[in-house]
Amino acid sequence: MKVLYAIFEADPFIKTGGLGDVGGSLPGALCRAGTQTRAILPKLSSIPDKYKSRMETLAEFEVPLGWRRQYCGVQKLEEKGVVYYFIDNEYYFKRPGAYGYNDEGERVAFFCKAVLESLQHLPGFFPDILHCNDWHTGLIPVFLREQYMGLPAYGRIAVVFTVHNLKFQGIFPKAMLADVLGLANVKSAADQLLFGDVIGFLRGALCYSDRLTTVSPTYAEEIRTAYYGEGLDEIFRRRSGILSGILNGIDTDKVSPISDEYLSETYGPADFRRGKSANKRSLQRDLGLEGNPDIPLLVIVSRLTEQKGLDLILGILDELLCENIQLAVLGVGDAKYENAFRSCQERQPHKMRACITFDPAMSSRFYAAADMLLMPSKFEPCGLSQMAAMRYGTVPIVRETGGLADSVIAYNQYEETGDGFSFANYNAHELLFTIKRALDIFSNHKASWEALVRRAMEKDFSWKASAEKYAGLYQELVSQRREVL
Ligand code: GLC
Repeated sequence: MKVLYAIFEADPFIKTGGLGDVGGSLPGALCRAGTQTRAILPKLSSIPDKYKSRMETLAEFEVPLGWRRQYCGVQKLEEKGVVYYFIDNEYYFKRPGAYGYNDEGERVAFFCKAVLESLQHLPGFFPDILHCNDWHTGLIPVFLREQYMGLPAYGRIAVVFTVHNLKFQGIFPKAMLADVLGLANVKSAADQLLFGDVIGFLRGALCYSDRLTTVSPTYAEEIRTAYYGEGLDEIFRRRSGILSGILNGIDTDKVSPISDEYLSETYGPADFRRGKSANKRSLQRDLGLEGNPDIPLLVIVSRLTEQKGLDLILGILDELLCENIQLAVLGVGDAKYENAFRSCQERQPHKMRACITFDPAMSSRFYAAADMLLMPSKFEPCGLSQMAAMRYGTVPIVRETGGLADSVIAYNQYEETGDGFSFANYNAHELLFTIKRALDIFSNHKASWEALVRRAMEKDFSWKASAEKYAGLYQELVSQRREVL
């Protein structure tokens, strides 16, 4: 079974968020689950030179894009046992960062076309499955079905499309249908891509793919409703027979307090008391907070955007800081949240620290030092911070949505079960009451707290189970396609 995994980001080459973590770890896990998976991504200039210098050119050709033809190179690099292909075009990709350009639609359309064209140039590798991710790869199934079916072998490729975040849909002027996509006269494409006066790349992917998945079972249910569906819920309801949710894993070798190079003291489930208190002391000192092990340290490690439920936190911030706690925030994002946290630090410098930066070393130190992680997301397709926090023995306090509902089991004081705290409604005081409950267990029921921490640390978040589910899905799909053809 050959799988080509198309994605815009993969750690360690390029990563702006959770998508990059998945791109950097799932292909390897899929190989270990018995598939022959290779990944394909754009050769963005921010990829570190040490990787670029090792890339080997496999082919050079031209890609038709609307009425033009564009240069395309395919380069190859093997990293940790996985083969990665890179689409090279300096006009589109030799720019700082990954996203946010005025010609975004055209860059992405080029990438999608180039992936399909490159299949004729990958020595010894023609995929049975194309596995696409998020809107940047959304046109792959559209082009495949509308423009490539005449070419030998393309007809038997099946497409799996994974939604990581529905907020970003790739919406562009409808003029692009003719100019860039070359689909103006294809009625079925116009019917499925258009809504109102614009076209949506993600919408296209949802209509044209053979299987749709998202990154947690709960989110796969939620997106069938108008509240979570971002205007696409009707399509998810219509195609619910091919929609499923598979929870993301994490790279458990990398995300581990046992081997984390950024920690002054490493630790595991057996000696977390010593390890966490040393890390807490060191972070408290560096942040200028009182070095006291008994004051609960709460952290937020997140992109600072509306999705992450930060409005709930701002709604109760001053009330929360009346408790005997310390709060530290790490992340960058919307100015509204950055400024609100900065100004809170001005008001309460002894209790609150706002580290407005993206810093992997600091995030390791936050997870290791903290007692609790706040993650009351408005929606959360999967979420990685809660899993990382748990690995480091930091108890997550989450809203029961998407992957948070699927990865955190609420603490039950009667049965002494669970590995975090959760609440249901998008309501600031429900969050506050839940935090207060956690604070009570932390301060007044030490043995229960420590057992909770140990359960969180020992939970299995490896990719193994999820990769096996994907492999099963590919297998099913390939057998189905064989029957049809
Ligand atoms: C997006 C989602 C996040 C998910 C990640 C990887 O960033 O917002 O919930 O964990 O993709 O799938």
